[in-house]
Amino acid sequence: MKQIEVITPITVVKYSELSSEEQRLVDAARAASHRAYAPYSKFRVGAAIALDNGEVITGANQENVAYPSGTCAERSACFYAHAQYPDAKFRVIAIAAVGTDGNELKQPISPCGSCRQALLEYEMLAQGDVKVILIGSEDIYIVSSVKSLLPLAFSEF
Ligand code: THU
Repeated sequence: MKQIEVITPITVVKYSELSSEEQRLVDAARAASHRAYAPYSKFRVGAAIALDNGEVITGANQENVAYPSGTCAERSACFYAHAQYPDAKFRVIAIAAVGTDGNELKQPISPCGSCRQALLEYEMLAQGDVKVILIGSEDIYIVSSVKSLLPLAFSEF
């Protein structure tokens, strides 16, 4: 018998330690979180994706009175990005959240399982790592790729 260990390295930084390009993406994700349509959970999430063509695409969670019909911020952003720019590669995604008290969460949230699988699709298409920036008001986590957030991911390839 042998054991396999799965390790996800996370770099913890402050906003001021980010590059100006990363700060712009964080700003875009934060702004997107305030545009969420979340009347049921009142939990607002924003995502901003930097593409290799220079575009930044944002998304926010979209809820629905028939709960399962809604979708997360990450998927609204990645589906829209790929629908608009099918030839562009994803480079970085930043994710921010505002809690039910209306304030940004102190510690970051990370994408749900379905969003990880959806994002992994675009990382595979990009043939390179898509950096993930998870935003909290106190700490910001940087994960080097989507696949490191989804060990043993399903893949046909
Ligand atoms: N949500 C996201 O937008 N992203 C995630 O990764 C997890 C959860 C949304 C879905 C729902 O509208 C609200 O947060 C509460 O679960």
